[in-house]
Amino acid sequence: MARALRDPLAGTYLGGARYFMDKAFHDELLRSDPATFPDGPDGFAGLWEYLRGYTMMDPWRVASIASRLWEVRHLPGDVIECGVFTGGTSIMLALLLRRWGVTKKVYMLDSFRGLPVPNATHDAFYRAGWFAVGRNTAEQLAIRCGVRGSVVIMEGWFKDTLPRLTQERFCLAHVDGDLYESTTTCLRHLVPRMVEGGVMVMDDYDDGGGGVKRAVQEHLTHTHELLHTGPLPQAYFRVGEKHRERGFRSSQKEIRGNRPYGRMVAEVQRRVTEDARAVARLHKLVNG
Ligand SMILES: C[S@@+](CC[C@H](N)C(=O)[O-])C[C@H]1O[C@@H](n2cnc3c(N)ncnc32)[C@H](O)[C@@H]1O
Repeated sequence: MARALRDPLAGTYLGGARYFMDKAFHDELLRSDPATFPDGPDGFAGLWEYLRGYTMMDPWRVASIASRLWEVRHLPGDVIECGVFTGGTSIMLALLLRRWGVTKKVYMLDSFRGLPVPNATHDAFYRAGWFAVGRNTAEQLAIRCGVRGSVVIMEGWFKDTLPRLTQERFCLAHVDGDLYESTTTCLRHLVPRMVEGGVMVMDDYDDGGGGVKRAVQEHLTHTHELLHTGPLPQAYFRVGEKHRERGFRSSQKEIRGNRPYGRMVAEVQRRVTEDARAVARLHKLVNG
């Protein structure tokens, strides 16, 4: 009897704009610790419900970025996300800004062709081409959410798009390029464009891949800025917030305060492993 071929991407976020986690899990997360959601006029949970299918992140990390945005919303400068995938996180930030009555653009940068070739020494487990989705999903989402006018979509490699931002200033950057060189490129070009007190949120700092951690630590060792840890594997630093010690220093405060974090990480890890297997199956089917 012929065996039916299973869609190797079924149920994974890599198939496009699909739910990253199941609804029950999300509902539980959203109920379990509202203290980690941003202050300010309402807004997060309802938007998340709508947008969660368009980001590969969990609500804790997106809420953490939203909290940082709330902190810096009165600073001058726009917002930028490097590595947007299907665009949900950027659009969430654009919608929150609109709800808060804050006029800022959200710059959305991505190759939309997936990851470039990882660094053979510094990046574990990532593969070139992962997360290739095209720009259409992000663009359509911006249109559907009514924020196309307040986002700037820039398609291409960071090394080519970031140098084009010569006049812009940013108060918040979300750097989510997964790899060592993607991250060093972002730090090199973005830090000079950040306003004093602006926040750089670095995703995948502690994801076990190694490249982001290395890039961030190399940078902060040089600048003496203090690293804060967000919901794993996220970390962030404030431009100009320096410590007085030598080398690199990290504050662990946020990890201790984030109770459901261990459970969430275990779930994310499980999903990521499943997706990695699904991608491997797909590659095998396509390439033989
Ligand atoms: C993990 S995904 C981003 C997830 C997204 N932030 C979210 O919230 O769902 C990483 C993205 O970074 C992009 N990327 C990584 N390195 C890049 C580079 N050097 N230039 C352009 N895009 C890059 C990939 O195409 C991919 O879409």
